[in-house]
Amino acid sequence: MTENSFVHRFEPATGAGSPPLLLLHGTGGDENDLLGLGKMVSPGAALLSPRGRVLEHGMPRFFRRLAEGVFDEDDVRRRAHELGGFVAEARQRYGLAAPVAVGFSNGANIAAALLLLEPDVLAGAILLRAMVPLSDPPKAELGGKPVLLLSGQADPIVPPSNSAKLASLLSGAGARVEHKVLPAGHQLSQADVTLARDWIGKLAAEVA
Ligand code: MLT
Repeated sequence: MTENSFVHRFEPATGAGSPPLLLLHGTGGDENDLLGLGKMVSPGAALLSPRGRVLEHGMPRFFRRLAEGVFDEDDVRRRAHELGGFVAEARQRYGLAAPVAVGFSNGANIAAALLLLEPDVLAGAILLRAMVPLSDPPKAELGGKPVLLLSGQADPIVPPSNSAKLASLLSGAGARVEHKVLPAGHQLSQADVTLARDWIGKLAAEVA
């Protein structure tokens, strides 16, 4: 791959009929973090899992932030564009359909940014504990793209008003958004896995 490349793991599909997953880890994670989650959510799907290229005190992330919940929005734009380029290259190299993102925390935020900035990159997204990534996003046209947004009622990082705003931003851009607020904090719970798996299962049945 070119200079646009990310350190990543790729696991080919072992079954047919499910969209590939683009796994996007949270702050301090890496390309190995979400492989297990990907397998639970969509057994047999191809998994593409890049490592974020920004380091914050040694912790990989997908874009720079100025403080917790305060983003360097120029960097968000630039990194979303880089990630979009990586996905395009990986699709060619591995022969993949457009992936569905499964992003957690910082990974969910870059996935939300990708939807708004590069709407053709993703076939859909599961956003786990996501927040609004850009204060003034461009007018995206998401044409019915499916998005599952799972938020935590007691999330100390993402206030409920912020995830509600993200849901309406994405719906306003034409995405088919399902937003559920779980009795959880910022960490994932079993309910996230079950809801994500059921949602992907329905999506795979729709496109089959
Ligand atoms: C972010 O920086 O993307 C959010 O604050 C979530 C996090 O990574 O902690």
